[in-house]
Amino acid sequence: MGPQAASAMTASERADALEEQMMHELEHIVTKSVLFNLGDGKVETEGGAALMAKHPGKYMLMGADPRLPQMPEKPTLIDYFRCRFASTAHLLQSATHALKAGHDEKVVLACLLHDIGVVGFIRCDHGYWGAQMIEPYVDEEVSWAVRAHQALRFFPDESVGYKYPEMYVKLFGPDYQPEPYIVEEYKRARNHKHYMTARLITVNDIYSFDPNAKVNLDDFVDIIGRNFRQPKEGLGLDNSPSAHMWRTLMWPTRFL
Ligand SMILES: [Fe+2]
Ligand SMILES: [Fe+2]
Repeated sequence: MGPQAASAMTASERADALEEQMMHELEHIVTKSVLFNLGDGKVETEGGAALMAKHPGKYMLMGADPRLPQMPEKPTLIDYFRCRFASTAHLLQSATHALKAGHDEKVVLACLLHDIGVVGFIRCDHGYWGAQMIEPYVDEEVSWAVRAHQALRFFPDESVGYKYPEMYVKLFGPDYQPEPYIVEEYKRARNHKHYMTARLITVNDIYSFDPNAKVNLDDFVDIIGRNFRQPKEGLGLDNSPSAHMWRTLMWPTRFL
């Protein structure tokens, strides 16, 4: 397109055109699932026939997306940390904080994994997503705690010095109230035997946003090794109830 045509486009049209151009340079047709479009405020998806017509001579992508970091044949949790999680500093800081406080390895692992829903999947209900992803591979205490932190972070517990985070007032406004399902989750969690593990996630969470803290995933390799049951086929290539979630993270643009 000429410069005149380009300047007549809106920013979002230009972004679409760029994306279109990039797609044409790929060997296969990469598809955006409905969820990706919902995130852009559009309830739509392109069907196979329309895509084939747009990219003659090409097949649909049915494997790895060449634009993303390449995953090894048998990926481990560490590989997902390195190749798929969009940011890990918060998780590492939180886990480092728990480690320094002398908490046991299950608490440290729960802190290390508490927000993988956010950094690797979706923000909405991230505690539930994260818990479901790790459930087949960790002690029930760890996944339960990751799920419950979703609700607990909105409720204070003076016994461990946890207050409603100031940051939430900034992020959500002073009038924000958690929905009834979160309130009910909190009430159930309060009486659960693993309540304190989930509570410790929230305690270590609020102090873990220091941009200058030095953190390293290598410090947690042993704890992961002892507490996360890595499947021999590769994480996502096994047949656990959540393997498909890891595969989706590995191959987010597969046609089917
Ligand atoms: Fe969280
Ligand atoms: Fe967090």
